[in-house]
Amino acid sequence: MNLLDGKKCADSLIAGIAKQVARHVDAGLRKPHMTVILVGNHAPSESYVKSKITTCSLSGFDSNLIRLPETVSEKELLALIAEINEDNSTDGVIVQLPLPKQINAQRVINAISPEKDIDGFHPTNFGRMALGQKAFRPATAYGICKLLQFYQVPVAGRHCVVIGRSNIVGKPISIMLSNDFDIGNATVTLTHIETPRELLLEETRRADIVIVAVGIPGFITPDMVRDGVTLIDVGINRLESGKIVGDVAFDAVAPKCEWITPVPGGVGRMTVAALMINTLAAYQNNFE
Ligand code: GUN
Repeated sequence: MNLLDGKKCADSLIAGIAKQVARHVDAGLRKPHMTVILVGNHAPSESYVKSKITTCSLSGFDSNLIRLPETVSEKELLALIAEINEDNSTDGVIVQLPLPKQINAQRVINAISPEKDIDGFHPTNFGRMALGQKAFRPATAYGICKLLQFYQVPVAGRHCVVIGRSNIVGKPISIMLSNDFDIGNATVTLTHIETPRELLLEETRRADIVIVAVGIPGFITPDMVRDGVTLIDVGINRLESGKIVGDVAFDAVAPKCEWITPVPGGVGRMTVAALMINTLAAYQNNFE
C-alpha cells in the first residue's frame, strides 16, 4: 500500500507557484489577488475558507475575505459580484458553497465573470473543460489529476469508477479523466445515488481506480474493491467525536490498495493547491 500524500504534493506545487509569483513581483508587477465570499457561518465552510486564505499567503498571493450575513439577499450578493467583476485589482473570486436557501447558487455562479471564475463552476468554464478547451477546471477534480500525475499513477487505458455525480466533483472528474487531457484517456463509469447496489458493486469490484465523493463515512468497505485498486477519497466527514474521516473505511481497505489517499492530508489539500494554480493563471492572463 502506498499513500497518495496530498500534503506533500500540494506543498511542492505551492512552492513552485510562490517562485513564479516572486519573479513577477521582482519584475514590478503586483501580486495575484484572490477574493473569497463567505455567506453565514457554516462550520465546514469556515474551515475551508481559512485554509484557502492561509494558502494564498504561502503562495505569495494577496487575498481578502468578504463575510456576508446568513440573511443576505441574492440581489445584494449579485451586486457585490458585479463590483468584483469590474475590479482590476482582483484576479479571481470564489463564493464558498453551500449558500443559504434564499439564494440560488447557480444564478450566483453564472454572475461571476468567467475570467475570474477560479472554481471553474461557471457554465462557460465547465463547457470549455468538457470540450477539452483551455478553461479553469473545477479545483477538486483538477487537484485529483495533479495528485495522480505527481505520483505517476497510470490513468490512460484504465477503468475508473466515480461514485457521486455532483457538479463540483463527480461530474467534472469523470469528464476530465475520460477526455484526451494530459491526465486522461481512462474508461470512466459514473455511478450515483440511483445506481442499483448490485450494479455499483459489479463496477467497483473490477475498477482499477475508484474515486468516491458521497459524504458518507465508511461507505467503501474491503468487499467493494479488488486487490491492487487505486482509491481516491474525496469525503471530508466530521464524526461526533470531532475526528475527520473520508468516505473510505481506511484501516480495513488500505491493505488492499496499491495507492490510497488519506483523509485528512489527501484530496482536500489538493483542492486548495489547484485553486492556487487557477488563481495564478487568472493573474497571468491579466498581464498577457
Ligand atoms: N464548497 C465545497 N467545495 C467547494 C469548492 O470547491 N468551492 C466552493 N466555492 N465552495 C465549495
